[in-house]
Amino acid sequence: MNLAIFASGRGSNFSAITKEIKQGKIKVKLVILVCDNPEAYVIKRALRAKVKVILVNRRDFKSRADFETAIIQRLECYKIDLIALAGFMRLLSPAFVRQYRNRIMNIHPSLLPAFKGAHAIEDAFNRKSSSTGVTVHFIDEKVDHGPIILQEEIEIRRSDTLTSLEKKIHAVEHKLYPQAIKLFLQGKVRIRRRRVSVSTL
Ligand code: GRF
Repeated sequence: MNLAIFASGRGSNFSAITKEIKQGKIKVKLVILVCDNPEAYVIKRALRAKVKVILVNRRDFKSRADFETAIIQRLECYKIDLIALAGFMRLLSPAFVRQYRNRIMNIHPSLLPAFKGAHAIEDAFNRKSSSTGVTVHFIDEKVDHGPIILQEEIEIRRSDTLTSLEKKIHAVEHKLYPQAIKLFLQGKVRIRRRRVSVSTL
């Protein structure tokens, strides 16, 4: 199986996944990093891990369709079976989603459907919610939506600051995302009528 990670920023999830692949805990070939931001720190991480970087800058393309066609060409060229979005800050079109239906995972820092959007951690913190969490799901045509693979709840304590909450969430992400990929590769993630069942045996 060939994996592509899509990321636009820091890349801590990229590193968490790479680490488990290197340790032989996830049996997949991480073939490419697709990145849309030439300044992203994740590029340095990929080069260090000797993962090929495909840089696709949206500004270099006339339309989103052209931008996505360029990405799909690379995915086909590298025979990618599974895509893991890890902080990729662009929405993929319904046509893209259809082409890779149930083969594009995403990680989101909340217990979806709560706190969708780009500021999920701050939103949960500012709303003084007693808990939040992490979700790994397949994407569908809607934003921060689609069949849920794994979720973990995280308590927000009165003593938490935004920084301490971010730390707790990222720690859970770095455990949950590799776990979801591993379960998928082991054939333990089944999808029927847009619902996922996960066997952890
Ligand atoms: C994570 O919090 C993830 O849930 C969200 O984007 C962030 C990416 O962080 N989708 P990193 O770039 O992997 O450090």
